[in-house]
Amino acid sequence: MNMIQQKCSHSCQGTSCKCGLCCTQITNFGISRGGTEILRNVDLHIHCGDLTAIIGPNGAGKSTLLKAILGEISHTGELLFLDAQNEGTTRPIIGYVPQKLELDSSSPTSVLDLFAAAYTNIPIWLTISKKVRERVRKGLARVQGEHLINKRLGALSGGELQRVLLALALDPIPHLLLLDEPVSGIDQRGLELFYKTVSLLRENYDLSIILVSHDLNLVAEYANRVAFVNNKTIECVGTPQEVFNDEKVIQTFGLDWSKHYQKDEKDEKDRVDNAHLV
Ligand SMILES: Nc1ncnc2c1ncn2[C@@H]1O[C@H](COP(=O)(O)OP(=O)(O)OP(=O)(O)O)[C@@H](O)[C@H]1O
Ligand SMILES: [Mg+2]
Repeated sequence: MNMIQQKCSHSCQGTSCKCGLCCTQITNFGISRGGTEILRNVDLHIHCGDLTAIIGPNGAGKSTLLKAILGEISHTGELLFLDAQNEGTTRPIIGYVPQKLELDSSSPTSVLDLFAAAYTNIPIWLTISKKVRERVRKGLARVQGEHLINKRLGALSGGELQRVLLALALDPIPHLLLLDEPVSGIDQRGLELFYKTVSLLRENYDLSIILVSHDLNLVAEYANRVAFVNNKTIECVGTPQEVFNDEKVIQTFGLDWSKHYQKDEKDEKDRVDNAHLV
């Protein structure tokens, strides 16, 4: 099921592609860290409007892959960003929400301070203008987090911090959004809210989103493509239905989704309810 394509076959043509970035094409990617090979022969092709979930066991290399796409760590192979005419674009705007962030819980820095520092490069102890405050408020409203504006960063819950970081990653609206879901610390309601928000953003802005996830229920519900990272590579990629029925995925997660996918769409909820949190 691995996909290698030289040309983008996406249906968006010319100006109908709202986002400016038609696809992200990764070919024969390899990543080593500290002399150890982490990933090899990785091929992945992501269209605008796609929500691609990256799944796989702990330590498989999911976060490493996002960091390489982000340009934080080096890689071999090719990473191309193509516009709707299949012409390489200059580096797109990439929004990134990391899996974890080391925060000093006693620091007085507030959410507003964090945004102001990101927008203006001015020292955070200077007065924050009304204009900046309004921009922060609007940014937080995108993730239903307006009420968090004056909270100290160290006082945010895991889910709140994740929403704040998402708001930060969305200003300016990126071409490509990379989300590394925290492995722990977020309750199911918080996770669902996060997925719903991401899903709405995808529809509204035609964003390309790559989301690392450990929650197969939510992946099945919200992602339209899934890539399974295992044994140092992407072992399969396709629709959720294709990937969750792949023998290697079933073996890794101990799931048998096949019966659920044979049912009518109205039984979709049953299928989702049968997955395990991994
Ligand atoms: N800076 C580093 N130097 C050396 N090895 C590293 C470094 N960062 C990560 N690794 C190793 O790379 C492998 C992949 O790590 P990565 O964080 O990408 O896994 P992951 O799939 O995101 O796991 P998880 O599901 O636990 O978040 C691990 O074996 C990890 O120990
Ligand atoms: Mg990770």
